[in-house]
Amino acid sequence: MADEIIVVSGNKRLAGEVAVSGAKNSALKLMAASILARGPVVIHNVPLISDIEMMAQVLHGLGAVIERDGHTLTVDTTDVTKYEAPYEFVSKMRASIAVLGPLIARFGKARVAMPGGCQIGARKIDMHFDGLSSLGVTFDVDHGVLIAQTPHGLHGANVTLDFPSVGATENILMAAVVADGTTIIENAAREPEIEDLVDILCSMGAHIEGAGSSTIVIEGRPLGEFHPCEHTTVGDRIEAGTFLAGGALTGGPVTVRGVDPSFLRMALMKLRMMGCSVETGEDWIRVSRDGRLISTDIQTLPHPGFPTDLQAQFILLASCAEGVSLITENVFENRFMFAAELMRMGADIALEDHHAIVRGVSKLQGAPVSATDLRAGAALVLAGIVAEGTTEIHNIYHIDRGYEDYVGKLTSLGASVRRVGADA
Ligand code: EPZ
Repeated sequence: MADEIIVVSGNKRLAGEVAVSGAKNSALKLMAASILARGPVVIHNVPLISDIEMMAQVLHGLGAVIERDGHTLTVDTTDVTKYEAPYEFVSKMRASIAVLGPLIARFGKARVAMPGGCQIGARKIDMHFDGLSSLGVTFDVDHGVLIAQTPHGLHGANVTLDFPSVGATENILMAAVVADGTTIIENAAREPEIEDLVDILCSMGAHIEGAGSSTIVIEGRPLGEFHPCEHTTVGDRIEAGTFLAGGALTGGPVTVRGVDPSFLRMALMKLRMMGCSVETGEDWIRVSRDGRLISTDIQTLPHPGFPTDLQAQFILLASCAEGVSLITENVFENRFMFAAELMRMGADIALEDHHAIVRGVSKLQGAPVSATDLRAGAALVLAGIVAEGTTEIHNIYHIDRGYEDYVGKLTSLGASVRRVGADA
C-alpha cells in the first residue's frame, strides 16, 4: 500500500541471526544480461523486492517470459523482439538503463527512455554514452528517448572511465562481449556485483578477464555462441551492512549469514574502529559491542572504499558515538537528506558541502520521519529502534525497493517494529 508506514518502539537491543537475501544491485543486472542468451536463464537467490518486479516488467515488455519460484527466477528471452525500454518503467527505476548494453548487443540498436535523476543526485549517464560510443554506438535523443544504433556494428576499443561508474562499467561490458575484437576498460568499477555479472556472462560464453580489478579485458564473441545458464546471485553486502550497523548501534550480537565478509572489509574496519567486536566466517559476520561507540571519520568511495550505500547507516552510528565524526560523501552530490531527518530525532549534524560533521548525542528521540531513499529509510528504522519513544517512518516504498521483509527480519532480531496503514 502506498500510504503504509512503519511504526517502531525504541530502546530495543537487536540480537540473533539473520540470513541476507541476494544482492539487489547484482540481480537486476543478471536479469538484464539474460537478453544475451536465447533460452531459459535460471537465476537463484533473487531477492523478493519491488525493483526486481520492475525489472521483470521491463523484460516482459520486451517479450521475455519470466517465471518465479520462490527466490529463483527463470528468464527466457528467446522470443524477445522489441528493443525499447519505455519511460513508464525507466522513470520508476533508473536501473532499467542496464538493458541498454544487452539490447545493443542483441539487436544492434536500442530505444531507452533517458533515466531521470533522483533524490541523491543527477545520476548522469554520460560515461555510458562515451564508453558505448567508443565501441561504435551512435546516440540520438528524441523527446527524452535515447536512440542507440550501430551503423557499422560493434567493435572492440580501449575505454577509460573518468570515474569507476558501476552502471557504465556494466553497460559497456554487456555490449563489448559481442563486439568484433578486444575491449579494455580502464578505471573500471570493482564492486563485487560487477564480478557477479562477469561470472554469469562467462557462463553464457563470454571471454572476460580482470573482473574485480580496475582493468577488464573482453574478447568479443559472436552473439550466436551465447547460451542460457544457471547462476546464483551473491549475497547482498549492503543489506548485511545495514543489519550489522543495527547490531553495532544497539549492542548485538547480530550475525548476518549468506554474505562474503570480504565484500565489506572497509565497513568492518570502521565498525572495529568504532569500538565493536567483529568476527567473520566463510559466509557470515557477527558484530557486538560492550562499551560506548567511538567516533570515527569516513570517506565514501568506489569499492573497495567505504560504500556510499552504507553512509546513512554510519551517520546514525556516529550520531550515537562518543566524540565528533567527519563523514564525507564522494560518490553522490546530494546524499545527506537522511541527516536532515535524523536531526528531527535529536541528532547533532552540521552539513558543509559534501561533509557531515556529526557530534554524538546521548540519546535520540522518536519522531515522525520520512524516507528519502532506500538506504536512508532503512537507517531511520534502525534509529527508531535505538531512540527513546516511538518513531513513524513514512514513504516506506523506498525501503521495499531494496530490502526483502525488512520488518520481519528486524522482528526476528528482537525489534518492536510493524507496518501499518498511514490512516491507522
Ligand atoms: C549503482 O548505481 C548502485 N545501483 C547504487 O546503489 C550505488 O550507490 C552506486 O552504484 C555506487 O556504488 C545499482 O546498482 C542499481 P555509478 P550507479 O554509475 O550505477 C556519476 C542503492 O542504494 N555518474 O557508480 O548509478 C553518478 O551520478 C543504489 O542500492 C556520472 O556522472 O552508480 C554518481 O554520482 C543507490 N556519469 C557516481 O557517478 C555516468 O555516466 C556513481 O555512479 C555514470 C555515473
